[in-house]
Amino acid sequence: MSCIESDRGQGTSDRGQGKKRLVSSLILFGLIFLFFSFSFKGNYEYDTDLLPSYFHKDRRETLRQLLPDSSVAVFFSNPVCTRSNDVEFDFHQDPNLFYLTGLREPNSVFVLFKEKQQIDTLFTNEILFVMHRDPNAESWHGRRLGADGAKKRLEINSVLTDEAFRNLNIDWKKYKKVFFFPMEPDVRDDAEDPNDLSELIRKFRNGIYKNTNNDSLYLSEYMSMMRQIKLPEELVLMRKAITISGEAHIELMKALESDMTEYQGQAIIEYEFKKRGAESVGYPSICGAGENSCILHYTTNRKPMEKNNLIVVDAGAEYHGYSADITRTLPANGKFTMEQKAIYDIVLEAQLAGIKECIPGNEFRAPHKAAVRVIKKRLKELGIIANEEDYIKYFFHGTSHYLGLDVHDAGMYGKLEGGNVITVEPGIYIPEGSPCDPKWWNIGIRIEDDVLVSAYLPEVLSGFVPKTTLDIEKMMAEKSYLNKK
Ligand code: GLY
Ligand code: MN
Ligand code: MN
Repeated sequence: MSCIESDRGQGTSDRGQGKKRLVSSLILFGLIFLFFSFSFKGNYEYDTDLLPSYFHKDRRETLRQLLPDSSVAVFFSNPVCTRSNDVEFDFHQDPNLFYLTGLREPNSVFVLFKEKQQIDTLFTNEILFVMHRDPNAESWHGRRLGADGAKKRLEINSVLTDEAFRNLNIDWKKYKKVFFFPMEPDVRDDAEDPNDLSELIRKFRNGIYKNTNNDSLYLSEYMSMMRQIKLPEELVLMRKAITISGEAHIELMKALESDMTEYQGQAIIEYEFKKRGAESVGYPSICGAGENSCILHYTTNRKPMEKNNLIVVDAGAEYHGYSADITRTLPANGKFTMEQKAIYDIVLEAQLAGIKECIPGNEFRAPHKAAVRVIKKRLKELGIIANEEDYIKYFFHGTSHYLGLDVHDAGMYGKLEGGNVITVEPGIYIPEGSPCDPKWWNIGIRIEDDVLVSAYLPEVLSGFVPKTTLDIEKMMAEKSYLNKK
């Protein structure tokens, strides 16, 4: 899969053949162009349940209302990152740009003005710059919307191409504020592409040079204020991501056998994600057995499981941009030991106490405080800690974060409000060598659910996934269609 096409070494060719070749190339290009023009089926047409364009339009209008007079906000797409040589990591759109436009292509810029204004020949309050159509590039890297396609599909007032961004004269210095986020440090410069993200950023930087009126903190607040409240259209997709993920966790419970490896556990869960239509994982799946259950963000997933191992499975699918985030902790052989059950029940009690606190008006940290209260008391009762304050040795992360377009989503972390979707995920991790009875060693347990804060009771969107030791053991006793016999 190389990007290098070469037609060198043809030293001699008569003029007739040259002409013929030119004509057939033109015909071929024409056909390719027609193919892309008339049979455009990008990732916008196969799926029928994408966020509607009016959703993004409404989000743009809301941001416009938050912006101060005579200001402009500029959003760049995420960079395309190199994995190795000419292989790239999967592209993932910048969530803010996606939220405001629905665009899922790289090398793009979105400019949102507070007021309508004249920009060259345009009278507009927003311009989206997208990659221009290019049959050759598209036959290598995938279809592009182009300016016309983006205007039609995304219903943005003004859409121009990346080339136009280079040539358009926006006088950035005339605005009281130009809001933009710090540019990604890992933007690569493709020397052969005069329209790649690094060029767009360069053009922008040159224009705003010496303009000190940026304040990315305010922009971050505006976006957080909007993104932390999920609208009904978003909740449809979040429920879908969470349902897919929860069903995959359940299938893993049925399929897990103690002679599997961590990566086989990961394979089952990710297969079930994809089979149900998830585009990707929302974050690298964690499948940590035994000693690895005590590593919070363990993603190596290479160890063979052992029959008395606990396995922390923290995995969530991403569906149309929205991520789930679910953790269950499973005994490899389907039965918790007494010690495992004792710690598990503490984490579960802490999690249920945390979920109860997910009500509007509570401080964001209320679920965490509730979980800590349970964990410190119970660890002391079991003799694992002598002083309650030592709980921190075994529970050393927060209990909640917002969830949405990012797994750790944008939000204000002030008071909880209806429409917030947050995780509640306490854990206890007792690595080998901890200052307690060795019978507790290598027990790592986390239980994580996704909770919708509402005016009524907290709604545990992932609550259908078994989580008491009894229910997990029951589910694990069932057979999966994936098992050999
Ligand atoms: N899966 C990452 C987290 O739970 O925050
Ligand atoms: Mn989480
Ligand atoms: Mn998680």
